[in-house]
Amino acid sequence: MTARLNVNIDHVATVRQARRAPEPSVIAAAMVCEQAGADGITVHLRGDRRHIQDLDVELLRKSVTTYLNLEMAATDEMLEIALAAKPDAVSLVAEKPNEITTEGGLDVKTNLSVVRSTVSSLLQAKILPSLFIDPDPQQIEAAREVGAQQVELCTAAYAEATLGARGIHGEGAAHAAHELRRLRDGAELATQYGLNVAAGHGLTYRNVGALAEIKLITEFNIGHNIIARAIFVGLENAVREMRAAIRSRK
Ligand code: PXP
Repeated sequence: MTARLNVNIDHVATVRQARRAPEPSVIAAAMVCEQAGADGITVHLRGDRRHIQDLDVELLRKSVTTYLNLEMAATDEMLEIALAAKPDAVSLVAEKPNEITTEGGLDVKTNLSVVRSTVSSLLQAKILPSLFIDPDPQQIEAAREVGAQQVELCTAAYAEATLGARGIHGEGAAHAAHELRRLRDGAELATQYGLNVAAGHGLTYRNVGALAEIKLITEFNIGHNIIARAIFVGLENAVREMRAAIRSRK
């Protein structure tokens, strides 16, 4: 089965917030993504509200008919918003105030009690709890321990390595292959623990193919590269092209 593609539309909101203008509409963007074959829409409501706003989450919940995945930090403020909005899934992420983007996975191991209680509140509300973590066996074990139903493996290190992996030989390629193996091993371990496996961060039309061959990964969350491509070919085409890049796995 082909992995699902949730399109992260945060950066549609980034363009809007650059002018505090009504356009471009994230709701319109979500509708175009769904019509182009996205299996779901992902948004990250950050503590600093730099792109997605509270009202966006509310309106998206009313308009998205496929699947709505809300990324957020495990704070009381965010939990309250999630329980009111009732997305289909919540991905708990680590958030640092001055980071340009999410810098790595959530450290579940050292935050067991807060993550466990957030996961439990989400489960009670029938919202699928997913944890965005590095492909580290200890973090995967911790995700199982706190009762998560899904892990989203952070692909940032793999994506970074592929940028330096021009050609099929050399140090860059070996590094990318190493990161790919870590993700494959992580997907296997999480599956053994009965966890759903998603993946995302920094994925592009070029680097998603190798990852899509790991059949245990059932969901991709991809944003920046799709929105960047949309500037040149339109959002509908950009989503279709990413779907095709994922589908072309053997
Ligand atoms: N998954 C998670 C948990 C994220 O935080 C992000 C970025 O918001 C993504 C996926 C998408 O990353 P990108 O925009 O690099 O595709």
